[in-house]
Amino acid sequence: MKILGISASPRVGGNTEFIVNEVLKSAKEEGAEVELLTMVNKEIKPCMACESCYENAECAIQDDDAAFFFDKMMEADGIVIGSPVYFGSVTSPLKSLIDREQVLWNQERSFKGKICASVAVGWKWGHNTTLSAIDGFFLTNKGMVISNGGVPGFGLMVYAEGKGEAEKNEDAIKEAIELGKLMVETINKVKE
Ligand SMILES: Cc1cc2nc3c(=O)[nH]c(=O)nc-3n(C[C@H](O)[C@H](O)[C@H](O)COP(=O)(O)O)c2cc1C
Repeated sequence: MKILGISASPRVGGNTEFIVNEVLKSAKEEGAEVELLTMVNKEIKPCMACESCYENAECAIQDDDAAFFFDKMMEADGIVIGSPVYFGSVTSPLKSLIDREQVLWNQERSFKGKICASVAVGWKWGHNTTLSAIDGFFLTNKGMVISNGGVPGFGLMVYAEGKGEAEKNEDAIKEAIELGKLMVETINKVKE
């Protein structure tokens, strides 16, 4: 079983990377093979709405990292994507990747059967809308979205601002560990 974690922060060793890694560490302890990717120094150009993916199932933009991320997602049984909250939504590289997803539809590739989870890390506000953007990406590609449940119920919200703050947030770490376990447990059930 493979679980892929993606941190959409441009900050090296930031809060999002830390929390996504906690999810992965917990999943690894439960027996999963894990991989962490970050968007640091990655280039994902915005969709040009050229419709070339509709015509020949290929994206017209080939000189960036979007295909790398999509290929990695296709190999995984579980995907957890974390983003810092940037003005109430995901960071721009992640938004560009989400907009580029139409190529997947036209290649008939999807997240069908994959267990997906979202994480939003922000100082004070906008976690809900950030989680919605990530969950929307999963759902529009037929992924099965899970969360630890409770309130708010549709993703992991982490309150942290300065670099290193998430490492002191015991509740967030506990929830990240719980999410890692839940992902492995759910993937096992799906595979039964
Ligand atoms: C451009 C920018 C926009 C931000 N917008 C918000 C916001 O809307 N709401 C919020 O609570 N925090 C906001 N923040 C704070 C970050 O979400 C917060 O510092 C987070 O911990 C960064 O995660 P990272 O360390 O993984 O990069 C913003 C930070 C930046 C740099």
